[in-house]
Amino acid sequence: MKTITIAIDGFSSCGKSTMAKDLAKQIGYIYIDSGAMYRAITLYCIQNNLFDGDVLNEEKLSQHIKDIHISFKLNKETATPETYLNGVNVEKEIRTMEVSNKVSYASAVGFVRRAMVLQQQEMGKMKGIVMDGRDIGTVVFPDAELKFFVTASPDIRAQRRLDELHAKGDTETTFNEVLDNIRQRDYIDQHREESPLTQAGDALVLDNSTLTKEQQMQWLLDKFNHIT
Ligand code: C5P
Repeated sequence: MKTITIAIDGFSSCGKSTMAKDLAKQIGYIYIDSGAMYRAITLYCIQNNLFDGDVLNEEKLSQHIKDIHISFKLNKETATPETYLNGVNVEKEIRTMEVSNKVSYASAVGFVRRAMVLQQQEMGKMKGIVMDGRDIGTVVFPDAELKFFVTASPDIRAQRRLDELHAKGDTETTFNEVLDNIRQRDYIDQHREESPLTQAGDALVLDNSTLTKEQQMQWLLDKFNHIT
């Protein structure tokens, strides 16, 4: 059996991360959530007052970027990797609506993307990795042996995201707020100049609007087994 690289791209909140995490666990690969890295940079910008509303002070960020270190450590209890910003566990803080509302602005900045892509390529050097994001199959690992592009309708994605927020104790955010955020992120992610969200020509498309978790996993495993 050969060891490969698996790239999973797609829209916000279509279940990519859970799917990528479960797939990695099943096949014994490392899982990296590239969105968490952009979220951690966004949190850093919020904490250091680099945002004025939605406007990011890119000049200041460029002076700070070399001080931002993002890493992942496995939580042994849950067996999932958690995100660390300069050595501090920020897994919870990076999932708030405040970060969700600002992350597309930070991730559209060219020097931020270049810094993240280099780190991601380093993490994937040995293969045996499942990475999910927006540009993994197109920019980070254009030679990945297996590429998936995941999608689902905005309403279904908003409901899933709302369920997640509720499960984490956020009962204030409304369905419409989440839907607006998803639509706005889709638009910015698809229209930014640097690495816009596009489907790689050789990606397999998975619309999971009506699939159960089990059906989805079986579909992924079939493709994985076929190629390895
Ligand atoms: O995957 P998640 O929704 O957590 O990603 C948060 C945001 O990070 C996305 O809306 C997108 O703006 C950005 N992102 C990106 N490139 C990636 C992963 C995420 O631009 N590879």
